Amino acid sequence: MALERTFSIIKPDATRRNLTGKINAMLEDAGLRIIAQRRIQLTRAMAEGFYAVHAERPFFGDLCDFMTSGPVVIQVLEGEDAVAKNREVMGATNPEDAAIGTIRKTFAESIEANSAHGSDSAENAAIEISYFFADVELVG
Ligand code: CMP
Repeated sequence: MALERTFSIIKPDATRRNLTGKINAMLEDAGLRIIAQRRIQLTRAMAEGFYAVHAERPFFGDLCDFMTSGPVVIQVLEGEDAVAKNREVMGATNPEDAAIGTIRKTFAESIEANSAHGSDSAENAAIEISYFFADVELVG
């Protein structure tokens, strides 16, 4: 096991329902440490750039509309196997498939409004972290 960092977003459906604290508690209870956090309003350009890998998918436009529909909380999480652990705590992308007790099963409204994003690999985590945070902001 290795100490790792991953990138997380608490999405607009969750900030709208004032769930930031409850989601953070689930992350911390799983052993993840929030070493950077900022509440921001994504611009269209920021959302399109962040999700550029999905640009050809049919849901891309709706996804960017949704991600700019309200504030998000961007975070860097640190812990043992943080990428996998965060994905475990979040649950499956589609809340209908997510395990009981996960963030998405507990809070998500739909596959789009699914309350949280988490990096899918250590490599993408590094890219996603640097998209939003400077090294000096990561206080482990
Ligand atoms: P996320 O982990 O943020 O990465 C891409 C997002 O696209 C995903 O979570 C979902 O919220 C959203 N999305 C919307 N529709 C789909 C779909 N059909 N398949 C996968 N992801 C989808």
